[in-house]
Amino acid sequence: MKFSLGLLSSIALAAAQNILLTNDDGWASTGIRAAYRSLTDAGYNVILVAPVEQRSGYGGTFMYSYTNTLLHDDQFHYKLQGDDAWGSEEDDDHIWYFNATPAACVSFAFDYLIPNYFADLDIDLVVAGPNQGLNEDDTMYTLSGTVGATYNAVYRGYPAVAFSGSQTNNSFFKDSLNNDTNDPQNIYASKMVELVDTLFDNQGDNAALLPLSVGLNVNMPKVSTQSSTNCTDPKFVFSRLTGQDVLIPGLAYNSTSNLFAWEYKNGTAATANGLHGDVTLPSEDTVLASGCYSSLSAFSIDYTAPTLEQQKVKVLVSDLLSEL
Ligand SMILES: *[C@@H]1O[C@H](CO)[C@@H](O)[C@H](O)[C@H]1NC(C)=O
Ligand SMILES: *[C@@H]1O[C@H](CO)[C@@H](O)[C@H](O)[C@H]1NC(C)=O
Ligand SMILES: *[C@@H]1O[C@H](CO)[C@@H](O)[C@H](O)[C@H]1NC(C)=O
Ligand SMILES: *[C@@H]1O[C@H](CO)[C@@H](O)[C@H](O)[C@H]1NC(C)=O
Ligand SMILES: *[C@@H]1O[C@H](CO)[C@@H](O)[C@H](O)[C@H]1NC(C)=O
Repeated sequence: MKFSLGLLSSIALAAAQNILLTNDDGWASTGIRAAYRSLTDAGYNVILVAPVEQRSGYGGTFMYSYTNTLLHDDQFHYKLQGDDAWGSEEDDDHIWYFNATPAACVSFAFDYLIPNYFADLDIDLVVAGPNQGLNEDDTMYTLSGTVGATYNAVYRGYPAVAFSGSQTNNSFFKDSLNNDTNDPQNIYASKMVELVDTLFDNQGDNAALLPLSVGLNVNMPKVSTQSSTNCTDPKFVFSRLTGQDVLIPGLAYNSTSNLFAWEYKNGTAATANGLHGDVTLPSEDTVLASGCYSSLSAFSIDYTAPTLEQQKVKVLVSDLLSEL
């Protein structure tokens, strides 16, 4: 009785809550469609705006269509060469694609779509993901398109959360979206709803769901009853972006092919060095390496160095400096 009343009131509350959902794997990827369905089922008014095709690894890169039509098919051949460069699902006017990077899709939503098609709706939260693949640590922060969309939303003053998952198989939703609650993408979607619900439940009198200039980065482990860890309900562990186990993107040169391949390099003293926040928190990498846990880190878009480091630099260049 108590449970169902609580459920009802949170559904009623959620009716007025507006979420912008994006990703970097493309608008037709199973993960984002599962997230859209679960967030919508939870009572949120969700507007999905995502790249027409895979845009992983674009970070905050701001690229957008310079033609009115698509120059090639997307990876699932859902939208084809010659189709409009942006548009919506025929049966759902809340689901949109744009031929752009994730960061530019966020601007497309705020600068064009919402003013023109959604009566300047107030967005309460921007959610990106779930990415097909982890985006751990400060080293992926700049590189990930999922996170790039997220910090672009934070730049605009919106609370935003990036979600990424260990499952890397990016599939077409028309092939793979199902109703199995143990499907990895459905588990990720339900964990996303759990965190989003928690943020709304705890907003209280705060003006926004998160402090100004702050966003969240969440990484979820391999899930499903089939995985060796049998992980279906990973708990969130509060973490930080720097730390001992942080890995750095690097290159492996192959002298036979005379080509390069992606290769993670071990972190350095620089990535282990915590300058901001609670440095005793585990790194995201440490959390994910610990089993059935998701890392949850707060990041800020104030990239300015902390006072001590700032002062040390100022001394070094003081001969060059003038006052405004
Ligand atoms: C990826 O997912 C699709 C759809 O579920 C499946 O058909 C395919 O076999 C998967 N590929 C891999 C490499 O797991
Ligand atoms: C999932 O459930 C919905 C609603 O019950 C139904 O319309 C849909 O066909 C189901 N999808 C699959 C893949 O079974
Ligand atoms: C995973 O856990 C579920 C529920 O506890 C159980 O039914 C299933 O057999 C387990 N699978 C494996 C591979 O251990
Ligand atoms: C290097 O390239 C060759 C030729 O393409 C390939 O056969 C080999 O597997 C590659 N080696 C590694 C370590 O990837
Ligand atoms: C990278 O770190 C791992 C784990 O600490 C260690 O086993 C390995 O030797 C390191 N690799 C290099 C090239 O330093």
